[in-house]
Amino acid sequence: SGEIYQWMTQIQKSNSELVTQHYLGKTIENRTMYYLQISQPSDKTKKIIWMDCGIHAREWISPAFCQWFVKEILQNYKSDPKISRFLKNLDLYILPVLNIDGYIYSWEKDRLWRKNRSPHMNGTCYGTDLNRNFNSSWGSIGVSYNCSSEIFCGSGPESEPETRAMAQFIERKKSDILCYLTIHSYGQYILTPYGSTTKPPSNSEELVGDKNFGPLKIIAKCTGTDNNAVPILNLQMRVAKKASAALMGKYGTRYEVGSTSLILYSNSGSSRDWAHMIGIPFSYTFELRDKGSHGFVLPPDQIQPTCEETMLAVTTIIDYIDQKYFPGGAVMLTSGSLGLSLCLSVVLTWTVS
Ligand SMILES: *[C@@H]1O[C@H](CO)[C@@H](O)[C@H](O)[C@H]1NC(C)=O
Ligand SMILES: *[C@@H]1O[C@H](CO)[C@@H](O)[C@H](O)[C@H]1NC(C)=O
Ligand SMILES: *[C@@H]1O[C@H](CO)[C@@H](O)[C@H](O)[C@H]1NC(C)=O
Ligand SMILES: *[C@@H]1O[C@H](CO)[C@@H](O)[C@H](O)[C@H]1NC(C)=O
Ligand SMILES: [Zn+2]
Repeated sequence: SGEIYQWMTQIQKSNSELVTQHYLGKTIENRTMYYLQISQPSDKTKKIIWMDCGIHAREWISPAFCQWFVKEILQNYKSDPKISRFLKNLDLYILPVLNIDGYIYSWEKDRLWRKNRSPHMNGTCYGTDLNRNFNSSWGSIGVSYNCSSEIFCGSGPESEPETRAMAQFIERKKSDILCYLTIHSYGQYILTPYGSTTKPPSNSEELVGDKNFGPLKIIAKCTGTDNNAVPILNLQMRVAKKASAALMGKYGTRYEVGSTSLILYSNSGSSRDWAHMIGIPFSYTFELRDKGSHGFVLPPDQIQPTCEETMLAVTTIIDYIDQKYFPGGAVMLTSGSLGLSLCLSVVLTWTVS
């Protein structure tokens, strides 16, 4: 807690050419929220990757990962070709702990505290679940209106100062943000939108002819008449699968990938859904280790391996996005892609090459 503030100041001082610390807002108990911006100085207009940690107080591995991520980027950006390539085009905005009040409360009073610390009912109950408080089908499903509940969604969308500060900031920057990442635990999932509906997200069709996934093969005929057919492919999901494969490559840890409402549960008012609804093309919730044997109280000896493997997943996503939006000289689509894109609604499959 206090240590995270010290760490932020420290890391900024010792890496002042790359990192700056910025004010985001105040929590309900008047603590200051800061985010870190990692930007390589350049004349180019760049895009943004946003990552937040610590929306839920008790998920201590989450802020640990944000810190690990920043440390690794700073240590390796000169030597790691992937990192140095994406930093030419992308700025990284990292919010190490959104719910600082709750986080401190979980250290000092109640290890399993989840929500923020806003008082309700004249101080007879405390806390709103910040991940049910965003303006995405707010209050509709997977929430409680009872302030004693762990999933109390607050008195309205963005009723909490923490949610409001983050949402207003992201809203202002949204046209530049390509990817929204939010880190939670536990369960070992990479979750895509939506939690509030089982409808597929908006960018399902973009995958057609994407060089990062190799050539496409048509397995069903394109009739050319069915304009109502729903695109089957989901780009966010495919990228998440690449990420989970990279993660598994490190220590064999298995992650499940899928739309929140289909593989986990339905929830409304999540930051992930909201980010995608306002137009950010890629939006993911990570649920880090483990699958329940220790749950929120992950043993210290798992912190480093969890961070290492998660780093691979996150940099896989960022790298993919970098290459998609800044192809810069790389070989683009080859023959066949034009024909494919005219046939969006047919069933496609990837050839494994
Ligand atoms: C937070 O700060 C504001 C203005 O400085 C003050 O009015 C308010 O009472 C403070 N709240 C708490 C919980 O300390
Ligand atoms: C809160 O306390 C005030 C003053 O004691 C009282 O008038 C009010 O009815 C209480 N509200 C609730 C929701 O209990
Ligand atoms: C929530 O979104 C709705 C519909 O997009 C909008 O009308 C409303 O003003 C938003 N509320 C807040 C608190 O931002
Ligand atoms: C809210 O939840 C608490 C704890 O489960 C319960 O005791 C209380 O009766 C509930 N209040 C309402 C208004 O349902
Ligand atoms: Zn969480």
